[in-house]
Order: sequence, then structure tokens, then C-alpha cells
Amino acid sequence: MRPALWDVATDHIGAVRAIEVVMSATVLAKTLPLIADPRSAIRVVGTSKAWCAAVERAARVAATDVTTCLQGESGTGKEVIARFIHASSPRRHGPFIAINCAALPDELVESELFGFERGAFTSAQQPKPGQIELARGGVLFLDEITELTPSAQAKLLRVLQEHEFQRLGGTRVVSSDIRVIAATNRDLLQAVAQGGFRADLYYRVNVFDIRIPALRDRGDDVILLAENFLEDIARARGGRRCALTPLAAAGLRAHQWPGNARELRNVLERATIICSGAVIQAEDLSLDPAPAFSGNPTELKSVERSTIERVMNDMQGNISKAARTLGISRTQLYTRLRKYGFSQAPV
Ligand SMILES: Nc1ncnc2c1ncn2[C@@H]1O[C@H](COP(=O)(O)OP(=O)(O)O)[C@@H](O)[C@H]1O
Ligand SMILES: [Mg+2]
Repeated sequence: MRPALWDVATDHIGAVRAIEVVMSATVLAKTLPLIADPRSAIRVVGTSKAWCAAVERAARVAATDVTTCLQGESGTGKEVIARFIHASSPRRHGPFIAINCAALPDELVESELFGFERGAFTSAQQPKPGQIELARGGVLFLDEITELTPSAQAKLLRVLQEHEFQRLGGTRVVSSDIRVIAATNRDLLQAVAQGGFRADLYYRVNVFDIRIPALRDRGDDVILLAENFLEDIARARGGRRCALTPLAAAGLRAHQWPGNARELRNVLERATIICSGAVIQAEDLSLDPAPAFSGNPTELKSVERSTIERVMNDMQGNISKAARTLGISRTQLYTRLRKYGFSQAPV
């Protein structure tokens, strides 16, 4: 006989297919009281084929305890899917802890993940558990995993292989009880080929991979998401829900969304402030039009060069921040800075 959770997951997939308009954990909870915790209310809005395929894979893997890797552009909903897996998994009553590996300074990443004992470094007056200990019984979501330092990668490998680790400055071996969900907006295999990401860790992290599609490849999901975001915004501000004119909706459909759902949300936040009478017109959207590509390869280079220049200026020459904003590694940024003849900026 199949285990009960697998039945639930299979039903869950059926439910995912059946719900035509908006899939939400709240809706699923009515159908499947067992699987989704209504308090978590994870909304995975979308009905496009590409999106449903990703949700279906997520629902399948949720029933297991397998390490999962979510790959997709920034803002596509990787964290949404990670939370959905957690809320639909046997670990749903345990914690969900999200760590952005790119946002942690190199010197802090290990103490944050693995914790430390008293005296591990000068300011370590008291022992402190790391996020791996705090996530016990739950899920640790490691966003932008390729940005982990080599030493943190080695320790994480031990957690995934042996389910154990040591706090910094400690000798005691602590056993871990977490499920890891990793995410990256880079191609993980390419990161391995370029030498920034350990091959052995790649195999441990990428046991089950889910590709999260870009918003531009998700057809009418743009409109479904927009309507959901407008509802959220109205609820948060306590006002009326704004409506989209057909021209505004067409504008949203035609846009390329390089920043995906996150960009859509920002565009709508702005539009709801400037529109009048709770109706959003096309001109309220202030979408940056993607310039038509002339077919000349030097044009692509000049776009890349000016984008790098602008981001480096915005980030006051901080390589790590600029690389993160551009969605590339520090090494890739250095290569491009050299290629375009920029003098090396201060870090
Ligand atoms: N399918 C979706 N349903 C509901 N909200 C979404 C969806 N996809 C993205 N969002 C929202 O868009 C924003 C960016 O999503 P996030 O999961 O943080 O993207 P990523 O982790 O890929 O950068 C968040 O505010 C999230 O709630
Ligand atoms: Mg994210």
C-alpha cells in the first residue's frame, strides 16, 4: 500500500489541476484539510501550463523529505514555491527559515548558519545557535545558494550528507534535522563549471530540481497575478480595489517583465497611487519599454556596458551589491568590468 502522504500529494496534484482560477492553500485546505495549513495561506497564483507544471512538481516533492533546488530568474516566485512546499509537507508544523546567502557578509555567513560557542571570536560573549539548529523539524530555505563561501559550502555538504555539524569554536557534534530547499537565479551547472560552486554539493542540492518559469512565458498569469496584487494592496491600504482598463491589461500582457512578479507588484503599487477614481489606465503604469533590438551585436554590448555602469554607480562601486543586483557572480562582474575597460572600483 502506498503511504498516506503520497495519496494526499496525488490528490493535491488533482486539486492543483482542478482549480482553474487561483490556486491558494486556503482553497486547497477546504479540499484537503490534511495537507495545507490554512494559517499559512500560501497563494500560488497562476494557471498557465508552465507554472502549473512547476507547482505540480512542487506538490509531488512536498510529500517527501528530498532536498530540492528551485531555479529561475529573480522575482519569479521561488520563495513562494518554497513556502508552498513547506506548507504542503510533513514538516509544515515546523519552522520555515529563509536565508539569503548573497545578503550575508562572508564573515557572518557561517556563524549565522551554524551558530557559535562562547569565545569563538572576540565578540562571542554568549553561545548562539545558528539557523540550522533553529530550523529543527522544519525547512531551511537557502536563497542564492551559489553565493555561499567555499568554507560554508563544505560545512553544508556535511549537513546534507551526514546530518551533522559543529558550531563555530565548538567541538561538540550537533545533529541536524532539516529539509533544505535551495534557490538560485543562476545556472547551477554553469556555477560548477566556473568553479564557484562545489560539484559534490551540486549533486546533494540538486536531488530534485524545479524550474520556475519567467513571467513573460506565463501568458495570462500576468493578469491573474495583477488582480491578486491589486486585492492585496487594497486590503493593506484599507481602500477600494483598483480596476484595470482593457488597454492597461493589454500593456501588462505585452511587457517583458525582466523583474518578473516582483516588478509587476511594484508597477501596480505605483499605479494605484497615481490613478484616479480607482481605475488604472495604461498611462498610469509607467512601464519601461524594452527597446527594440536592432540586430546589431554592438548594441547588445553597449546595453550591457551602460547597465553595468549604472548599477556600479548606484551601488557606489560595491562589487558584491552590484553583482547581486545584476544577478551575476562577483567573478562574472570582474570579467565584464575588465572587458569594458572600467578601472576596478573600490569595494
Ligand atoms: N505565483 C505567485 N503567486 C502569488 N504571489 C507571487 C507569485 N509569484 C511571485 N509572487 C510575489 O512576487 C514577489 C516575488 O516573489 P519571490 O517568491 O520572492 O521571488 P523570487 O524568490 O523568485 O525572487 C513576492 O511578493 C511574492 O509574494
Ligand atoms: Mg527571492
